[in-house]
Amino acid sequence: MLSLANAFSKENIEDFLKKVKNFLNINDSQEIVFSAEPKIDGISASLKYIDGIFTLGLSRGDGKTGEDITNNLKTIKDIPKKITKPNFPKILDVRGEVYISKSDFKKIAKQFANPRNAAGGSLRQKNPNETKKIPLKFVAYGFGMVEPKNFDKQSQYLKLLKTWGFNTNSLNKLVSSIEEIEKNYKNIETQRSNIDYDLDGLVYKIDNLKLQNRLGFVSNSPRWAIAHKFSSEKGFSIIKNIEIQIGRTGALTPVAKIEPINIGGVVVSNATLHNEDEINRKDIRIGDTVCIQRAGDVIPQVLYVDKEKRNKNIQKFKFPNKCPSCGSKTIKEFNFSTKKKDAVTRCPDTKFNCKEILREKLKHFVSKEAMNIDGFGKKIIQNFWDLNLIRYPVDIFNLNFKKISTLDGWGELSASNLEKAIKKSQKISLDKLIFSIGIRHIGQENAKTLAKYFVNINKFKELFIEEKRKKILNYLIELDGIGETQINSLQTFFSNSANLNTVSNLIKRLNVSSFKTSKSGIFYGKTIMFTGGLSKMSRAEAKALVEKEGGKILGTTSKKLDYLVVGDSKPTTKKVDKAKQLNIKILDENSWYGLLNR
Ligand code: IVH
Repeated sequence: MLSLANAFSKENIEDFLKKVKNFLNINDSQEIVFSAEPKIDGISASLKYIDGIFTLGLSRGDGKTGEDITNNLKTIKDIPKKITKPNFPKILDVRGEVYISKSDFKKIAKQFANPRNAAGGSLRQKNPNETKKIPLKFVAYGFGMVEPKNFDKQSQYLKLLKTWGFNTNSLNKLVSSIEEIEKNYKNIETQRSNIDYDLDGLVYKIDNLKLQNRLGFVSNSPRWAIAHKFSSEKGFSIIKNIEIQIGRTGALTPVAKIEPINIGGVVVSNATLHNEDEINRKDIRIGDTVCIQRAGDVIPQVLYVDKEKRNKNIQKFKFPNKCPSCGSKTIKEFNFSTKKKDAVTRCPDTKFNCKEILREKLKHFVSKEAMNIDGFGKKIIQNFWDLNLIRYPVDIFNLNFKKISTLDGWGELSASNLEKAIKKSQKISLDKLIFSIGIRHIGQENAKTLAKYFVNINKFKELFIEEKRKKILNYLIELDGIGETQINSLQTFFSNSANLNTVSNLIKRLNVSSFKTSKSGIFYGKTIMFTGGLSKMSRAEAKALVEKEGGKILGTTSKKLDYLVVGDSKPTTKKVDKAKQLNIKILDENSWYGLLNR
């Protein structure tokens, strides 16, 4: 179960449309039909039906592995337990949202902060009889596995869901132009307060499932859908203090501590100030009255200062030139791609021992996208950090659970659950491990690219050896998505002995599984490069296809290249000549489509 990219404006939606059309290599004037669906702010769930019987209900979890909440879901009246319709697929994962209506929430409001928390809390109950007491509802909007697939449009699927006995949203609509998208968005937004459930926006999905399939996914979200969030809400408050937070990459982020105010049902007491330039540009000072904006789940921001209310005596805010945690002189890096100095102030942490950075790295390490240690969140990291129980990732695998069970707020059960979750996380795939380490500029996509190259942990460990590293980095720079920034970052990271120790100690405690590529793919083990535009698909789609079929994309012509695909539109002669010189197989557009069976 994936997440969605967010759009906050018409421009964001136009960008999304452009990207979709570019990827599919279709004309700007050609229309694409979208299924526009209200985005209910609840808890997503997946319901597996086998031969019409509801057999397994899962929560979202980390997107890949959810928790089994079947018995709690069975208490919800809206969820059919048995479906006997003849056209119901043999296997179907129905995806949808569990929520509580605003009117029902009023009756139980004392126990929970908001309807979403109430739904989440009741779904996690150990005892289904407790869940049953809460008036949960279910609306269906998507699918996971389906066999056989007897629909080829999202809108068709939504209709079928209804005939099978599921609730679907009555405000679902097909839209096919930016004008229609805007009209529908405004229409739903004005109705919002009269609708009996919390909505935080609309979801647009390309209606045609074949096109969805071609577009595929990037990291955790589909290229074929986007969430269009409703406009934010604003309020005024006073800045009590400006604190500097240090992130895992050493970035110093100023945060305004404000007099708590309620903005649209949520109490806000912090707002991000982004960086030094932003504070100067808006001239934000401690003591100022400021306008705060909150949009969905995004961190609240300071929009502007009400200068009329400013006390003459208050001073300009001085951004620290030393790291508040370790005292290192802060820096602003030069950004090679923008050819400008970064706006972000950083702790350079040359000795790799800045305490705040270490702690933030631990938070990243246990997070869902990284090691995914269930139940081990930021609060526990802080708790264990304060008690001096953890400093480095490996410490997590040396915790004394007997001792933990005696700590304030802990018991035998919670300590044993944590122990189990930590044990479970020790079996990890190479890409997740690489991402978990938290090397700067190595995000989820790059971690996958690297894992694909190294395949197993032993090969990855060659990066630790100076003589081998140079050769490896020379090769890596040819991979698509890996640039100078990433290579420099890998070099800096692995040439530091403190980092090598941290990572080596960690690896000893893990069971790292090799990266799985599809060995059956038509490009398995092959390297491919493109030059010139293709007429039937975009470069992005072509690259995605190669990767899906087990191949690697290279960015430069070298002996390691197996195929150079030459598109009809403006190929680079230099690349083609070099490939000829090196005796590399050259494919023209037709042979390329031939290989793909298109
Ligand atoms: S589609 C890959 N459709 O929004 C597509 N999501 O940020 C995944 N949601 O976790 C979701 N209504 O909890 C989709 N009609 C709808 C939705 C919807 C609410 C929630 C869902 C999901 C989140 C995505």
